[in-house]
Amino acid sequence: MRYALCAMRPTPMRFQKIKGTRDILPEEIGRWQAAEAVIHQVMARFGFSEIRPPIFEETELFARSIGQLTDIVSKEMYSFVDRGEKNLTLRPELTAGVVRAFVENNLGKKQPVNKLYYLGSAFRQENPQAGRQRQFQQFGAEILGSPEPAADVEAISLSMAVYRAFQLERFVVKLNSVGDVVCREPYKQKLREYLRPRFDRLCKTCQQRFEKNPLRILDCKEAGCRVETAEAPKLFDELCENCVRHFARVQQLLEAGGMKYELDFRLVRGLDYYTRTAYEITSDQLGAQDALCGGGRYDLLVEELGGDATPAVGFAAGMERLMMVLEKIGWQPTTPKAPIIFLAPLGEAAVLWAVQAAAQLRQNGMTVEMDLLNRGLKAQLREANRQQARFAVIVGDNELQTQHAAVRDLTSSQQTEVAFVDLISYFQQNSF
Ligand code: HAM
Repeated sequence: MRYALCAMRPTPMRFQKIKGTRDILPEEIGRWQAAEAVIHQVMARFGFSEIRPPIFEETELFARSIGQLTDIVSKEMYSFVDRGEKNLTLRPELTAGVVRAFVENNLGKKQPVNKLYYLGSAFRQENPQAGRQRQFQQFGAEILGSPEPAADVEAISLSMAVYRAFQLERFVVKLNSVGDVVCREPYKQKLREYLRPRFDRLCKTCQQRFEKNPLRILDCKEAGCRVETAEAPKLFDELCENCVRHFARVQQLLEAGGMKYELDFRLVRGLDYYTRTAYEITSDQLGAQDALCGGGRYDLLVEELGGDATPAVGFAAGMERLMMVLEKIGWQPTTPKAPIIFLAPLGEAAVLWAVQAAAQLRQNGMTVEMDLLNRGLKAQLREANRQQARFAVIVGDNELQTQHAAVRDLTSSQQTEVAFVDLISYFQQNSF
């Protein structure tokens, strides 16, 4: 019978991770957790509350929010039909889900301004390269309910504060205004007129963008296109009166707060929901994918998703890109590691004792490791040293008889006899 079962086992097969995804391994996870802790702290300092929207949503939500013609929606989404015939998509960003949750849960009725932040995975089927993955982590923040330039500046200042909290000073804030429904269409027309005589010299992609999405021609990286657009009319020179006033005030407030920025007429962002302020923070330590974060104002989105008209502004940032820069600047997390108590039982009865002792010590907040391989004393002590444990607690038949453990301080190599009943208070006094 046993043989028959074995014969039915499938041939073993090794799997590899999907292109553009990564494993964050135990050796790196401490840095990630410490970096995430810094982000949570800064968000709390700015009065933002965490929100965790689902990882997948209806495809239509993203198509409507980000825009049907954007690269994200037209080429990069991981979409699928579930068993109930619903069209679903793994979120390519979190803003759409946050706004959906804001509307669905009537958050706008609960307080005049909602300041929300998030940290989580997003998915885009892009060509993977350094700093660009198919599954990546974003942290970001959204301020819903304020039309004021002060809210734009709060979002920009929050993103800068996150980088500063890591002692990262070398970054550039690039600022633009993409106008609103009043001034953007006339500008697009003006841009088309300017580019029409240059059409043949634009790259293929930009020729396709010409009719439907001419703004994206401004941020094309092709040298030829950059030459053709160098002297193009600039959107921030063509803004309507309200947008001019808003943009000027944002700059005034940034300056008042000592926040340096550069105006960048090429910055148009790859998502369609923006109105007025658009910004990015770039780093020269990242290579081609140099945007640490990006965001801006999106005053129409809440209404477009069925909510009451609610002006909003926010940003999102790539966690992997942050980690890359932190590696470059040699950032070291400061979180101290809890001292490890290593239980080294010798023999079956001692293992029984160790399982109970481990439970009690852990209940009292201590970090406890235990040999799980039934090894001899030497091998166990070697393991305790490898784990940089602070104490080894050796218990064999003798110790069980006397009800005293041999506690070895692995930094000083001194050994003490401690009664089983006193172990918790001994460690409380000696290591915490
Ligand atoms: P986004 O510019 O598409 O904006 O993405 C924000 C950031 O996410 C980028 O600056 C970059 O750091 C990171 N990122 C984007 N794609 C990838 C990728 N494939 N691999 C690694 N990192 C990536 C948004 O997502 C908007 N939701 C931002 C926003 C929030 N606007 C208003 N509120």
